[in-house]
Amino acid sequence: MTRLRRPRRPLIGLLTAALLATPLLAIPTTAHAAPAPALIPKPVSQQALSGETFTLKSSTAVGVIASPDKRVAATKVAEQLSAQLRRSTGFAVPVVADAGAIKLSTNGASSLGAEGYQLRVDRAAITVTAATPEGLFRGVTTLRQLLPAKADAATPQGGPWQIAGTSISDSPRFAYRGTMLDVSRHFFSVAEVKRYIDLASLYKLNKLHLHLADDQGWRLQVDSWPRLATYGGSLEVGGTPGGYYTKADFAEIVRYAAERYLTVIPEIDTPGHTNAALASYAELNCNGVAPALYTGTNVGFSSLCVSKPVTYTFLADVFGEIAAQTPGDIVHLGGDEAHSTPHADYVTFLNKASTIVANTGKKVMGWHEIGDTALPAGSIVQYWGTDDTKSRDLARKAATKGAKIVMSPANRAYLDMKYNRDTPYGLDWAGLVSVEKAYSWNPTTLIPNLPESAVAGVEAPLWSETLDNIDKVEFMAFPRLPGVAELGWSSASALNWTAYKDRLAGQGSRWDALSVNFYRAPEIAWR
Ligand code: ACM
Repeated sequence: MTRLRRPRRPLIGLLTAALLATPLLAIPTTAHAAPAPALIPKPVSQQALSGETFTLKSSTAVGVIASPDKRVAATKVAEQLSAQLRRSTGFAVPVVADAGAIKLSTNGASSLGAEGYQLRVDRAAITVTAATPEGLFRGVTTLRQLLPAKADAATPQGGPWQIAGTSISDSPRFAYRGTMLDVSRHFFSVAEVKRYIDLASLYKLNKLHLHLADDQGWRLQVDSWPRLATYGGSLEVGGTPGGYYTKADFAEIVRYAAERYLTVIPEIDTPGHTNAALASYAELNCNGVAPALYTGTNVGFSSLCVSKPVTYTFLADVFGEIAAQTPGDIVHLGGDEAHSTPHADYVTFLNKASTIVANTGKKVMGWHEIGDTALPAGSIVQYWGTDDTKSRDLARKAATKGAKIVMSPANRAYLDMKYNRDTPYGLDWAGLVSVEKAYSWNPTTLIPNLPESAVAGVEAPLWSETLDNIDKVEFMAFPRLPGVAELGWSSASALNWTAYKDRLAGQGSRWDALSVNFYRAPEIAWR
């Protein structure tokens, strides 16, 4: 016997407004409707197509419709979708040209920008339309969330594979939607970084900021200063063996991220947070003496030597090599917590360092302390304050100088803050950050009197003092990272904790399918 599935909420409340506005609107049948999909980030617009359900079958193919200049990249997006569906459905899901019940087309949706897309699901076909392969990729991440959660599994699952009919039109609120991984305090292997990229890309993030050098470790091969990595990268917090990325490793991370439409932003923190470099080369120290490697978790004790010419040779060499390995247009020079650099020296240093980065052809990015220094055209300043006046002033000052601001408020967006007093790892210096607190803020109004046009977007940093493996990283990032991703993508008018919380609950089964070690926050009704 077929049972009619009732909607979980009374239709009256949901449809009254629509019925009043459109008296002849038919009440959609619910007999064959799948549960409402829990999309994160929430699309700009989405309509249900009543009575339409697409069923993925053993014969379903993915067709690519693209002009010659976009065909290779569009086909790559199709192949990624196909590979995932092959794993979970056991079907062949071939990628074909110009046909297929799932169609990815780059011929349209040009008004939605490079990342925008339209997605239509009806009984006959699924069509993702975008102006670029990147837009197709964003649309495919939505399609993956429309499928049953088991579609994200790594091994074949039983069907049916149904998607309720829908029509979506979507594009991001902000161009900068990032997350940062601190690979210095604890080193993460290329495979671990790839895992983090995979998970971040599911929520339409487009920047991966890698914190590559700090007091505890230098994590990238530099040919002109080889001991930075071989000695400066040898340990990590707690004194366990560290590691570093060879140039080939780093190229592989950059390539893997680019295939998932994340741009890598490399950071070398200066002039503080530099003990690993100072330990590797005695000449970088004002007194000519190399300190020991450092494996504790204090901050603010190290500084490059502002008065020595070799410091700027070092910066030009390091940033030159890094810029050459970075296809993205941004390089991050840190600039935070330089507590042992006198302020006048700090300004002198930053003015030189930012010129060196700008001379590589990249845009300068730095933490909000650099708001006090000369900012080259196109600079990006990352706010990491806690609603304090000083940090807000620095962000506003930077905006006055023409910089764009990326919002990473530590008391909301820092993924390494504990959820509550019982969280087994993480820090709490910026407070406890519940899932609600991480979500419930608006990037353009958080800093009073910061012009909305100055805000480039959001980033959720994850510092790794207490996180020594990817399972712990996942526990801190999930479920908070998708919330910050939604702040970056969805319209301000769509941001609503109660509604978000319900959509978030639907991600739990997806994370189970993906084997994500997420924190099952008790305030979320996971399903
Ligand atoms: C920072 O958290 N020191 C940027």
